Amino acid sequence: MGLTREGEETICREESRGFCSGDRQSGLLVGEAPSRRNEERTEHRFGDLVHCWPIKMDLKQLIELCPEFHQDAQGDPISWGIAWDVLRFLENRLAKGSKTLETGAGVSTVLFAASGCSHISITPVAREIATIREFCERHGIDMSHVQLLEQRSEYALPALDLDDLDVVLIDGRHAFPSPFVDWFYGADALKMGGWMVVDDTHLLTGTILRDFMNEDHNNWRLIADVGNTTFFEKLVATVHLGEWTEQPYILNRMP
Ligand SMILES: C[S@@+](CC[C@H](N)C(=O)[O-])C[C@H]1O[C@@H](n2cnc3c(N)ncnc32)[C@H](O)[C@@H]1O
Repeated sequence: MGLTREGEETICREESRGFCSGDRQSGLLVGEAPSRRNEERTEHRFGDLVHCWPIKMDLKQLIELCPEFHQDAQGDPISWGIAWDVLRFLENRLAKGSKTLETGAGVSTVLFAASGCSHISITPVAREIATIREFCERHGIDMSHVQLLEQRSEYALPALDLDDLDVVLIDGRHAFPSPFVDWFYGADALKMGGWMVVDDTHLLTGTILRDFMNEDHNNWRLIADVGNTTFFEKLVATVHLGEWTEQPYILNRMP
């Protein structure tokens, strides 16, 4: 997926997740009623063409369309999507055929799909799966290499046969202990040199994961923090070895 200069400017003005809702909108749409406006833009820009001319979605177009794959407490469409600058950083690592996994689903799923990744996304919400599929179909994004599993990731992951992953994105349920369960299985399946991406590091569950990896220099290397999302490279083939006595995060906090 390419990104134009114009897209970069847009991303720089966008701050955090939830850019399609309330006052946390993508830069392009600031000051406009986002969801209705997006629908108008979609119709206007792509209209009937989608059926005869499949469009290769890029990140700039995704930002402009700003799809809302989630629902708020009232059941209204909303996006709890990961920040655009995170997606921009992530897309540099993605290539056709990359093996990728995410917990949760949304605009990040569209990025993985449009990048040609062999991707697994796990969410328990059927409506999200349906709207993501519909969006991708409407915009000519091939989903044949994407599996959308309608399950809670804590229960799905132990049963999946995963290995050699290039990227794992942890952005499903953020309550204790789900991110740790996701991380355990994701870290195991990640190949050496692969990227572990943990979103929402401002929440304690994400903070602990970030701090743990950041102190575990034998196994992880911090690549970048992009807003509330952290990117680590896995340095070894297997991380879940050894006892707590070999874990700096634990040792550094001994009373
Ligand atoms: C913050 S949103 C994900 C945003 C997504 N990465 C994006 O860019 O749009 C959280 C996601 O986790 C999903 N979720 C909630 N509980 C879950 C669970 N137990 N396992 C997996 N996903 C879960 C939600 O349905 C939602 O898709």
